Amino acid sequence: MNEYVYINEVGPRDGLQNQKTILDIDSRTELIHQLIKAGIPGIEIGSFVSPKAVPAMAGTDEIVKSLENIKNCDLSVLIPNMKGYELACDAGAKIISVVPSATETMNQKNINMSLEETIKNSCKILQAAKADNLCTRAYVSVAWECPYEGLVDSNQVLEIAYKLIDSGADEIILADTIGAANPAGVSKLVKQCVDQFGADQLSAHFHDTRAMALSNVCAALYEGIRKFDACIAGLGGCPFAPGAAGNLATEDICNMLEQMGYQTNIDLNKLNSIVDFCAEKLDANVGGRMTPWLRKTN
Ligand code: HMG
Ligand code: MG
Repeated sequence: MNEYVYINEVGPRDGLQNQKTILDIDSRTELIHQLIKAGIPGIEIGSFVSPKAVPAMAGTDEIVKSLENIKNCDLSVLIPNMKGYELACDAGAKIISVVPSATETMNQKNINMSLEETIKNSCKILQAAKADNLCTRAYVSVAWECPYEGLVDSNQVLEIAYKLIDSGADEIILADTIGAANPAGVSKLVKQCVDQFGADQLSAHFHDTRAMALSNVCAALYEGIRKFDACIAGLGGCPFAPGAAGNLATEDICNMLEQMGYQTNIDLNKLNSIVDFCAEKLDANVGGRMTPWLRKTN
């Protein structure tokens, strides 16, 4: 077996959006360049959201512009509403991600829209993006459990995913926002989605709050998923979802996949140096579960 698994790095967005230390634009851009040099095939480089709501993402337009000549990495940005879409287009973004959640309350808390408004707006943005020849990703956040409403019905997720695909989403990202999913629940929802949409259009985004993110990746892998979001140094968490801890660390998923015989084409030693870069810039002791082991072996 030497099957390829695509890793989409969300560190510059999910990883930095909720840190105590706000990185300046040069440091954010340097992080992205280092991730590209490590061989990461896709990176979410920031978000076009209100700088009042998420100060750490201010200036994403400058970052998008400065990276316009990058050809060897899929650079995407997160956008919550039509204003964000317009700002992303003005900056020259080529891949956009809309961010609906599966429950009423999570949408209200995250982007100040009802569930119905969120889906309508996300679909409108996807249609506009397709007309503008952009590539599109669509999260379905709180796909397993919502911090406000509890367990989420998988049929609700499927219905939302169907509307997003119908409006032009190239990819649906099933997101475990607060890291509450377990491998049994992941298998169940992913299988339903694969049956309905096919594995190629699906990806998964796990937070590691309860130390089940790697097991959840395995559950999704065994259902056929070959695309995962991950976050360097295990940073991350949504500021509007109480209890959301860091994402699954990029170094941990890459190491596990390589050891299982999958191919990511990502340089683990370079990831290790990027963990050190993040620790220094954020002035925090960061890193995935395997960081101490990797340091010892080098
Ligand atoms: P609102 O207050 O309802 O917006 O916020 P509004 O339309 O009333 O506008 C209010 C002000 O914001 C105005 O400025 C607008 O121009 C401005 P003012 O006149 O006061 O100076 N504004 C914007 N500025 C920049 N970019 C925009 C934008 N839209 C309006 N796009 C809004 C609604 C969505 C803006 C706000 O709630 C917001 O920015 N929320 C941030 C949401 C966010 O970033 N959440 C974290 C990312 S999602 C996540 O982490 C989950 C994920 O990782 C997957 C998972 O784990 O599940 C993706
Ligand atoms: Mg997230």
